[in-house]
Amino acid sequence: MNVAKNFLVMGSLYLVIGIAIGMYMGASGNHDLAIVHAHINLLGFTLMAVFGIAYKVFPAMAEGKLARYHFYLHAVGSLILLVLLFLLMSGMAGEAIMMPLAPISELLVFIGVLIFAYNAYSKAD
Ligand code: HEM
Ligand code: HEM
Repeated sequence: MNVAKNFLVMGSLYLVIGIAIGMYMGASGNHDLAIVHAHINLLGFTLMAVFGIAYKVFPAMAEGKLARYHFYLHAVGSLILLVLLFLLMSGMAGEAIMMPLAPISELLVFIGVLIFAYNAYSKAD
């Protein structure tokens, strides 16, 4: 698996969606989705772009299981979280939808980031 490419491609898809929501907010004047837009662009695109570039700049980090675990944890965790946030902020679902999926998805992202930090500490050179 090419972890660097996967992060960059998935992050770019989030950027397309994030900017589309930003343009919708600007055009409509309805900013209810500002938090969703912010996190699609930041947790989605920005973080994934940074991860993708890091795995390319430090190829040793991309070898082995840790990088793959990180990709799947971040991809699944952030997707669940961003969909929940969209449903909540758009009014399509109430607060009840956040439990227990939101903390679980946050934990997936967090464990992924811990793995990334450990990998950077031990392999980035
Ligand atoms: C053409 C592209 C974009 C448009 C039209 C756009 C538009 C907007 C709009 C209308 C808001 C709501 C402002 C408010 O209610 O206070 C907003 C908020 C925000 N945008 Fe964008 N945006 C764009 C791209 C981006 C990108 C690329 C990023 C990050 C990488 C980003 C990060 C944010 C953040 C963090 C907020 C929340 C700011 C806050 O609440 O103080 N935006 N954007
Ligand atoms: C699991 C990951 C994350 C969780 C659970 C989370 C949660 C939150 C929460 C609860 C808020 C307050 C929303 C409100 O004002 O009602 C917030 C705001 C914000 N977060 Fe995050 N966040 C996460 C990741 C990130 C990341 C990775 C970034 C940047 C790279 C980021 C940037 C921001 C910014 C700029 C705001 C202010 C946005 C605004 O006021 O519209 N967050 N976040």
